[in-house]
Amino acid sequence: MTGHFLKAEIHCHIEGAAPPALAARQAEKYGIDPSTFLKDGSYLWSDFSEFLVSYDRVAALFRTDEDYALLTETYLAELASANTIYSEIIVSPDHGDRIGLGADFYLAGISEGIGRAREKTGIEARIIVTGERHFGPERVIAAAEYAARSDNPLVTGFNMAGEERMGRVADYARAFDIAREAGLGLTIHAGEVCGAFSVADALDLVRPSRIGHGVRAIEDADLVARLVDLGTVLEVCPGSNIALKVYPDFEQHPLRRLKESGVRVCLNSDDPPFFHTSLEREYEIASHQMGFHDAEINAMTRTALEAAFVDDDTRTRLL
Ligand code: ADE
Ligand code: ZN
Repeated sequence: MTGHFLKAEIHCHIEGAAPPALAARQAEKYGIDPSTFLKDGSYLWSDFSEFLVSYDRVAALFRTDEDYALLTETYLAELASANTIYSEIIVSPDHGDRIGLGADFYLAGISEGIGRAREKTGIEARIIVTGERHFGPERVIAAAEYAARSDNPLVTGFNMAGEERMGRVADYARAFDIAREAGLGLTIHAGEVCGAFSVADALDLVRPSRIGHGVRAIEDADLVARLVDLGTVLEVCPGSNIALKVYPDFEQHPLRRLKESGVRVCLNSDDPPFFHTSLEREYEIASHQMGFHDAEINAMTRTALEAAFVDDDTRTRLL
């Protein structure tokens, strides 16, 4: 059991956290046939491209601010029941726009869900606005502009998720310039589907304090040394990496080698039901399958909180 660990995560996509039972209820509510992406209580996909398609279909089941409030509260309440004190939620205004809800109501619903969960459980959360790489540079820039002009105090960071094989980081650098200029924390998905070059591009062109996944940096020893020197935090999602076949099993996952090289790492659930995981399970895997001692696991939680995009008072209270 890992219930005794205090937990925190800084990498979970809101639509990717939708429990299949909730998605099924939403599909019924809107008269949508879910059989192309949901079967027997599991999401259907077989590789990364199909996962992204399934993800977008699940996102399209959440259509009002109240739908998003319910989804966010449900996700955070489950985390809180597993002794989690902090979460950073990755949200894409494009999903709000695509469904006709609009980015403002989309963000308002998610913020409402955060407020309800905080009131009931004490869990703290922040919002990271993301651009989806496969929607193209213009949409990613629009997401950065949206985040930059947002006066929502819960919006504290900017990210880029989606199809890492589309274009190069340079095509999206302008979006990160806009977000940096606005004082947002920066993180970017890199080194998940693509190799070390993608992490190197991210460091060169985005200069983020954190990288989503980043695990394939292990393929380049000089790059690992660079991550150590810079103190860049890798938001590692082992269950996601195994489900997506980035590595064949947990024994061959590079988390331990990265940590022992001195890279700052933490544990995250990414899109938990899509990858048959939860933050609690990630801690269990680290403890029981990857052989991390309790002190090492607690250090990873601390790293997540140190790297969190929060004000100093909140960080001090959480640490
Ligand atoms: N969007 C949701 N989950 C993702 C992942 N693991 N990688 C890239 N984009 C994503
Ligand atoms: Zn992710």
